[in-house]
Amino acid sequence: MRIEKIGSATLYLADALDVLPTLEAGSFAGILTDPPYSSGGAFRGDRSAPTSAKYQSSQHRGIYPEFAGDTRDQRSYFAWSTLWLSRARALTAPGGIVCTFSDWRQLPTTTDAVQAAGWVWRGVVPWDKTERGRPQLGRYRAQAEYVVWGTNGARPLSGPTAPGVFRMPIPQQKHHIAGKPVDLMEGLLGPMGGGPILDPFMGSGTVGVACVARGQDYVGIEMTEAYFEIACQRMQEASAQLMIDSVRGL
Ligand SMILES: C[S@@+](CC[C@H](N)C(=O)[O-])C[C@H]1O[C@@H](n2cnc3c(N)ncnc32)[C@H](O)[C@@H]1O
Repeated sequence: MRIEKIGSATLYLADALDVLPTLEAGSFAGILTDPPYSSGGAFRGDRSAPTSAKYQSSQHRGIYPEFAGDTRDQRSYFAWSTLWLSRARALTAPGGIVCTFSDWRQLPTTTDAVQAAGWVWRGVVPWDKTERGRPQLGRYRAQAEYVVWGTNGARPLSGPTAPGVFRMPIPQQKHHIAGKPVDLMEGLLGPMGGGPILDPFMGSGTVGVACVARGQDYVGIEMTEAYFEIACQRMQEASAQLMIDSVRGL
């Protein structure tokens, strides 16, 4: 395990299941994370293919490092998701929010796992990726991913509000095969308040960069070393930019 402290963020190079039991119970305002969906293949042979083969067209392969943990079938994805979601819930303050990404294939499994782990399932927030994705002949365009959200028990009806749908394209400049927009993460953080945020599957650190922009403490965990390095670099750049902006009074 390697631990890097960057500003008010702590980044772990490790398996999330090993780190979660070591963190302080009830200390996070919310969980915002994008786990490996394990959905890019119907059969065992397809599922064990490299992530670039599952999630990228042939002309884009080789641009990004492969990532870990994407080979589970649906039953084991449910078991694993329930495990990390219950460990994460123990770390979340009463009433705190969980937001976890899913594609359409894993949506029923993800809503089941959220509830099996003891969260109160509250809804699904679609991320509309706009019409930039490829149309499919004779079919509907695969244009959305989903954020399943819930709370750790009751949550008072007070505090900031947020949209129930986010419409924004996949970033032109991605840092990960499955990279998400920073603005999307900032929007999702809105109702969580200003407390510390946990991201057990940080990839290239997109949630962390959003937390830096909002002045929020962040703990991120990533087990693929190449992505851990990218996340550290992005967090350092975001923290340095924040300092420059505050000196300039922006
Ligand atoms: C879908 S990606 C996250 C991408 C991220 N949202 C971004 O914008 O860069 C999921 C990440 O979780 C990591 N991962 C998979 N299993 C893990 C585990 N058990 N513990 C920690 N990280 C894990 C993968 O290496 C991958 O980088």
